[in-house]
Amino acid sequence: MGDEWKDLYKKPKEQPSHHEGPVLFYNDLVIDHFTNPRNVGELKNPDGQVVLGDPSCGDQTTLTVKVENNRIVDIKFKSNGCTGAIATSSMVTELAKGKTVEEALKLTDDDVVIALGGMPEEKKLCSLMGVAGLQGALEDYLSNVSAQTD
Ligand code: FES
Repeated sequence: MGDEWKDLYKKPKEQPSHHEGPVLFYNDLVIDHFTNPRNVGELKNPDGQVVLGDPSCGDQTTLTVKVENNRIVDIKFKSNGCTGAIATSSMVTELAKGKTVEEALKLTDDDVVIALGGMPEEKKLCSLMGVAGLQGALEDYLSNVSAQTD
């Protein structure tokens, strides 16, 4: 066997000398929620749950809730996603915990972005993942409740 295989590991001749994409600046609070996300995991026997993904990037988030007396008493998320998806999902769980189901359903992605002190314009769509996860898990909860009362 010759040395031809080594060619496979050669770097292309035309390599950019620097990163050519847009540079994103996250504020300290976003970085904090990304590196130290709150309420991570999956609740056992949740009252509502959802798994959702963004087909445009392949990111995925799971969100589970526990509801007692119409109030969110526990909430957890897992995300296989970008900085924006993780930070906003973390903030969503913080904002939703302790709220009534109706109050939590009114949370918008703008509320989440504002609570985080802003998000790079290119990443604002990623904040939808957290809010959509919360709404999906609460809709699952509400459909479970109505199935029990039928
Ligand atoms: Fe996929 Fe942010 S890039 S959610």
